[in-house]
Amino acid sequence: MNVLVVYYSMYGNLHRMAEAVAEGAKQVKDANVTLRRVPETLSQEVLAKMGALEAQKKMAHVPVCTVAELAAADAILFGTPTRFGNMCGQMRQFLDATGQLWAKGSLVGKVGSVFTSSATQHGGQESTILSFHTTLLHQGMVVVGLPYTFGGQMGIGEITGCSPYGASTIAGGKGERMPSENELAGARFQGTHVAKIAQKLA
Ligand SMILES: Cc1cc2nc3c(=O)[nH]c(=O)nc-3n(C[C@H](O)[C@H](O)[C@H](O)COP(=O)(O)O)c2cc1C
Repeated sequence: MNVLVVYYSMYGNLHRMAEAVAEGAKQVKDANVTLRRVPETLSQEVLAKMGALEAQKKMAHVPVCTVAELAAADAILFGTPTRFGNMCGQMRQFLDATGQLWAKGSLVGKVGSVFTSSATQHGGQESTILSFHTTLLHQGMVVVGLPYTFGGQMGIGEITGCSPYGASTIAGGKGERMPSENELAGARFQGTHVAKIAQKLA
């Protein structure tokens, strides 16, 4: 059973969440878990202006995903930072290259799930995940979120991401806040949950 975790991260926050999602998926017996980044669309010059070069170097060891790897997976967990309440352009461009998969029905019946990050608490995490689900449904995927059995989304004692739609982290205005323990626990839970469902379907 192949579980693919594919993400974009500019400043490293979602990279850390993606690692936690993969850790969670690996807890499930027979899960073969792969971590991938989507291709970058910005030039080095633009990334430098955005102050992202150092963070990008730290993620350089993660291989870039191909469309064929989507087709080979039984479950795919997608990670995208919020951009104006939607997925980032890099992820959009990657998904827009999956027309062939759509034409062949290659993703039909596979599990799809989304996790995210935003700068602010109310900066569009839920809209990012829910609008992402539209694409997954067009591809015929079985959409899975983060159930309330992950109790960490119920607490109000600390600032935290995570909702029934998916795990999330609040990165701060300059990406300075790395995922909290609770947010990482949500990411791990989602990875395990998705892999278990994929196992049942398989
Ligand atoms: C063009 C652009 C649009 C953004 N839009 C939002 C937004 O609508 N709400 C928000 O809270 N953060 C927004 N952000 C902040 C990013 O979501 C944040 O930098 C990201 O989640 C950090 O994750 P990363 O370290 O994995 O890149 C935006 C950032 C950029 C560059």
